Amino acid sequence: MKVSLTVNGQVVTRDVDPRTTLVELLRNHLALTGTHVGCDTGQCGACTVHLDGRAVKACSVLAGQAEGASVTTIEGLSDGDGGLHPMQAAFRECHGLQCGFCTPGMVMAAVDLVQRHPRPDETTVREGLEGNYCRCTGYHNIVRAVCSAAERMGGG
Ligand code: FES
Ligand code: FES
Repeated sequence: MKVSLTVNGQVVTRDVDPRTTLVELLRNHLALTGTHVGCDTGQCGACTVHLDGRAVKACSVLAGQAEGASVTTIEGLSDGDGGLHPMQAAFRECHGLQCGFCTPGMVMAAVDLVQRHPRPDETTVREGLEGNYCRCTGYHNIVRAVCSAAERMGGG
């Protein structure tokens, strides 16, 4: 089947097997490997991207379901000038990552969280990110990073 969608501001069209998931389309057909696959069963959040502005687990969405949609991946989050998005900068400054495997999905989920809750308290952050697992268990610094980023993004 043919799938057309906008990814990081660019319209793309690919022929894919109907069983292709959105994360497979991104990684295998568009070489956007910043989006990771951890569990492939919708549990870990490593594959989180934005679909029409909301965070989704891309292993749980078929590519065909994204027809005509706008997708943003971690590669498309910054301003395009090589600068980091405030959430990425906060993760770096607050040491919100260790091995980094969960980080792209964590950042994408956190941006969506702050857009919906501009002044999140610690509980809101922890509950909002409960679908994203960090196997390095660096949750304290992740929460600090999200709260710091919320201030930079206009809330906090
Ligand atoms: Fe999608 Fe784990 S790889 S939720
Ligand atoms: Fe290693 Fe989260 S930083 S899994």
